[in-house]
Amino acid sequence: MQSHAWWQRGVIYQVYPRSFQDSNGDGIGDLEGVRRRLDYLVRLGVDAVWLSPIFPSPMADFGYDIADYCGVDPIFGTLEDFDRLIGQAHARGLKLILDFVPNHTSEAHPWFAESRSSRANPKRDWYIWRDPAPGGGPPNNWISNFGGSAWTFDEASGQYYHHAFLEQQPDLNWRNPELRAAMADVMRFWLDRGVDGFRVDVIWHLIKDAQFRDNPPNPAFGPGQPEISRLLQVHSADQDEVLDVIREMRAVVDGYEDRVLIGEIYLPVERLVAYYGPGLSGVHLPFNFQLILAPWSARAIGRLIDEYERALPPGGWPNWVLGNHDQKRIATRVGAAQARVAAMLLLTLRGTLTIYYGDEIGLADVPVPRELAQDPWERNEPGHGRDPARTPMPWDDSPTGGFTSGRPWLPLNDTTALNVAAQEADPRSMLALHRALLALRRAHPALAIGGYQGEGTTGDVLAFRRRSEDEELLVALNFGSSPVEIALPGARAEALLSTHLDRSGPEPAGPLRLRGDEGVVLRLGGEPQAARA
Ligand code: NOJ
Ligand code: CA
Repeated sequence: MQSHAWWQRGVIYQVYPRSFQDSNGDGIGDLEGVRRRLDYLVRLGVDAVWLSPIFPSPMADFGYDIADYCGVDPIFGTLEDFDRLIGQAHARGLKLILDFVPNHTSEAHPWFAESRSSRANPKRDWYIWRDPAPGGGPPNNWISNFGGSAWTFDEASGQYYHHAFLEQQPDLNWRNPELRAAMADVMRFWLDRGVDGFRVDVIWHLIKDAQFRDNPPNPAFGPGQPEISRLLQVHSADQDEVLDVIREMRAVVDGYEDRVLIGEIYLPVERLVAYYGPGLSGVHLPFNFQLILAPWSARAIGRLIDEYERALPPGGWPNWVLGNHDQKRIATRVGAAQARVAAMLLLTLRGTLTIYYGDEIGLADVPVPRELAQDPWERNEPGHGRDPARTPMPWDDSPTGGFTSGRPWLPLNDTTALNVAAQEADPRSMLALHRALLALRRAHPALAIGGYQGEGTTGDVLAFRRRSEDEELLVALNFGSSPVEIALPGARAEALLSTHLDRSGPEPAGPLRLRGDEGVVLRLGGEPQAARA
């Protein structure tokens, strides 16, 4: 028996299905496209694929508005395509994780049609309906994450329904036991089909304040922030009772062997770790987005890693994420040179790691002209849209990048400047670096499952040790663009990998020299230099 579960040793790769590979020329990626690229993922060296939603949907929020939890949208293919994909993924040793979106459905879901049909309908209580405020208007001041009120009035029945996102995404009422049972059935439907786990959308939103109290103003709100940031989400999310709901979900998943439950949670660390649940009855992995949200400096990142490690509950397994379909890409946030340092950081940290498709080739945000904008958030609040981080994968240097033979749903980057084929041919490419890092992680238990010990920061350099029973590695990362020297904790060191892909073998005696924007992984040996005669 392995001492750790696959999802503890493993690295997850997020596929945004619309943008990975189109197989039928309609300009939109699909399941057959993902299937054709499985060998690419095997060569890359990841262990699991997480697919953003593939279910029938009007696509008001690109699949995060689900009209049928137990099907596949024709844009993406059929259930048979799904079965073929999962079969071939498993045959290659790849796990498959689905996106589970339990906080809300599409307004087109038959449950919502029933619920809105009359106050007396048995499914009325499956959604969140409230009377207007005493003087008229929405029941409280809650704001939608995409701007505007989080309440929409239904003329016919004279009540408002709640939606934390678009008005086409009504929130479900997780205080209703029948709804909970129906959602457990949805999970079993996919678990029975062989999926290896779920990434659960906005899991901290599922339970709202029982009294629907107003949210307080956010004193830190300032210009440029989206409207949702005007209020602190004190009563609309992160309620203690949500942990009971999650315990039930976890029990469903635990009814099957070797599956994983991951929660999407944007909360400060001390609240985030609560989602491991009492006695680890919560999600296996509450997504840790701190590397996305923190300023990019050795000191800030070093401090947050230490704080996170300290905050973990006993037995709680860490995880790290560098990008996803809702955030600016890492190459845009920190630039191409530092993106290599970021890749080394991500892939040498302790815990389960998630890579966002395209980041392994250093894809940056692609500017999307206003007339081509797709994200509804962009239309509601210009400048906040997520299209630039969702553009199609450039597989080759043709204008549509080998992604589609048709017209891509979003524009591609300049494929002549950046594409997979060119990087496959370049031994020092970002892709080559990712393959090397993933291979290193697989070969060294110190990286995959070893302990973590911070070594602090020296100027722009962050260093930490990873240790297994039989070896000790040092990771040193230069967050600056100038060369630096730092003292080495051991007498002898052997370079295993540099972000520049040109450094291996014994290091010269004396201080460790790092070039600008360079990170290295070293194997340590011998006594600390200070202890030498
Ligand atoms: C979080 C998802 O990641 C995001 O893309 C989506 O818009 C919202 N949840 C609503 O489902
Ligand atoms: Ca297609």
